Amino acid sequence: MMKIEDLNEYQLIKTAKNEIVGSLDDRSQMQKMLLHVCSSGGKNIRPVMLILCTEMCGGNSEDSVKAALAIEFIHSASLIHDDVLDGGLVRRGVESAHKKYGIPAAILCGDFLISKAISLISGYGNNAVNEFGRAGMYMAEGETIDISSVEEEFRERNYFECITKKTGSLFAASAAIGAYVAETDEETALKLRTFGENVGNAYQIVDDLLEYLNKLEDKSSAYESVTLPLIYRRVLDHDDAVEKTVREVRLCVQRAKDILFSFPSSDSRKKLELITDLITVDMLPDNIIK
Ligand code: FPP
Ligand code: MG
Repeated sequence: MMKIEDLNEYQLIKTAKNEIVGSLDDRSQMQKMLLHVCSSGGKNIRPVMLILCTEMCGGNSEDSVKAALAIEFIHSASLIHDDVLDGGLVRRGVESAHKKYGIPAAILCGDFLISKAISLISGYGNNAVNEFGRAGMYMAEGETIDISSVEEEFRERNYFECITKKTGSLFAASAAIGAYVAETDEETALKLRTFGENVGNAYQIVDDLLEYLNKLEDKSSAYESVTLPLIYRRVLDHDDAVEKTVREVRLCVQRAKDILFSFPSSDSRKKLELITDLITVDMLPDNIIK
């Protein structure tokens, strides 16, 4: 099976990320934290998707590297802040930033990453910068919905609003910005935004399902959100709740692929199809009907 790490787009991001972190003052606590956060794995899914969308729209991958890094940095910031908010103890198999360096330093590390992301995206046009700002606002709003969710009152509709904002939005922005870098028209960029949103939502539903099934080994949190399988479990038995959740994953994946198939066949389209499966349906345990 293909691995994201094998893609040249992944290597492009990895090298650029190491260069930026490596260029910081090496005596600073900030660099230590960034090394901890940035070197602890991570599949660079969103930035890779951004570059592939640029390529699929006829653009040059080199032109989208800074935008892709901006997306990765704001994503890393959001995970650091998320771990503070939901008591995340382990992230990508290592101690979360706030657990290792304390809450104040972790918050500042997130602030640094957001600011670096803004400076990286600022060299692009209005459309890309707007997409970026929009995603950041949605992520914070989605996370607010998440932390204020009250068990009985949190229904399917609330769950989808929450994940579309906290997770779907950054995938959506990645795909749309990728298109804008290739100077496509707005209609194409908005189509790819919907593609990204569906991939992101499918990814989050799978992540929540794996947590419900206790299958997540590389992360752990003190507080758990109200998630889709838990909502279905209120009225269904375990197996039916899982099956209904998987159905929702498939729906999002299908919507995403329908959009991809409206683009002419290409190497980058093929890679986007593979990634869509890799981070969603392929993550499901074998004993779940695929
Ligand atoms: C992970 O959710 C968290 C997110 C997808 C988004 C977090 C967003 C914020 C904290 C807002 C910050 C905004 C900006 C612009 C930096 P999860 O807890 O369900 O997933 P996990 O299991 O990976 O922790
Ligand atoms: Mg979390």
